[in-house]
Amino acid sequence: MKKSIIALATALTLSTAVDAQKFDNLAMTPPMGWNSWNTFACDISEKTVKDMADLFVELGLDKAGYEYIVIDDGWMKKERDKQGNLVPDPEKFPNGIKAVADYVHSKGLKFGIYNCAGTQTCGGYPGGRGHEYQDALLYASFGIDYLKYDWCNTGKLYAPEAYKTMRDALYSAGRPVVFSICEWGDNKPWEWGAEIGHLWRTTGDIYCCYDCEYVTNKGLPTQWSAWGVWPILRMRKDIRKYAGPGHWNDPDMLEIGKCMNAAEDRSHFALWCLSAAPLILGNDLRTCNNETKKLITNKELIAVDQDKLGIQGYEYQFKDSISIWVKPLEDEAWAVGFVNTSKVEKTLEFDFKANTIFDEFSRRELNASKHEYIIRDLFKHEDLKNTTSKPIKTKIGSHDIYMLKLSKK
Ligand code: GLA
Repeated sequence: MKKSIIALATALTLSTAVDAQKFDNLAMTPPMGWNSWNTFACDISEKTVKDMADLFVELGLDKAGYEYIVIDDGWMKKERDKQGNLVPDPEKFPNGIKAVADYVHSKGLKFGIYNCAGTQTCGGYPGGRGHEYQDALLYASFGIDYLKYDWCNTGKLYAPEAYKTMRDALYSAGRPVVFSICEWGDNKPWEWGAEIGHLWRTTGDIYCCYDCEYVTNKGLPTQWSAWGVWPILRMRKDIRKYAGPGHWNDPDMLEIGKCMNAAEDRSHFALWCLSAAPLILGNDLRTCNNETKKLITNKELIAVDQDKLGIQGYEYQFKDSISIWVKPLEDEAWAVGFVNTSKVEKTLEFDFKANTIFDEFSRRELNASKHEYIIRDLFKHEDLKNTTSKPIKTKIGSHDIYMLKLSKK
């Protein structure tokens, strides 16, 4: 009898171990959407989220490929109820979260929410620790499609196990959810994240600037830093091999349309596309001007990000303040971006024939002396008169990017 109980217990344990997994076949290309944090922080409400959902569609973001509307920190009351359930803040969300999720779904969009693996979120709201299965059922009852899971107030928790517990909880709740690991790269999530989530933050928070470090102790007892677009992207250099369909490196959400000039916004967006990064907008869609709209809906750039191969691009060369980024694409094409990192205009001259680019990771080669490539300007949406048979020459403004696609002739 004893033996059969042990056998049954072992079988149950094994079957749970086999069954528990992340939801497959989600985020096969980097997720695209909008998140409340970068503009609204914890100051969010049903009205704001519904407004954003309306504008999302009015601006044509859905047609450009954006799908998710994600509510970040600040949606709950400061305490769980007597049964231990999270409670949406009744002032901010008078009709609860499901009503907002339903509204977002009625627009043909997907809906996401936020919590944290620790005892409290970074904003001081109840975290998920010890309530993972209960919370997962609640989220499923809201109808969420995406969960961003943060890393504040986690004490000595072991990150891979903490995130695995939430993954298993989501899986057992049964509603397919993209699981976004927001652990800031502290415990190298790229090494263990692919089995657990669909994307993982690679660094601390982004800050709205092109090239700066912002040091603060806001909200936390110790000092912490946030970084601009350029430093955040170059902070993690050797992790591209960990990214691919269903599991992405996430250099944080976009700061486009908020504080930088047009050239910096262009570089920011194109560099995220070259990096196969999740494209999660963070701007106030109510004040989205035409220039920003044109940029974030640039289909040719988005196609670079969303390329089916899912190969993360990399910095091929940095010379004379010009940083060259390359990304292998389908059909043996390549995206190539030349970023002027200096404060003055630069003249770029580049001869593809004299620079064979070989990507060790994907084993792909851009060899213009063997093949001729047509060169397309992804901002002007036109092919250059020259192919790779001649060197290219152009001026690039400070912090701007010259963004090209090369296709075999
Ligand atoms: C952390 C995350 C941010 C945001 C805030 C919310 O700082 O990295 O993206 O979610 O918490 O408090």
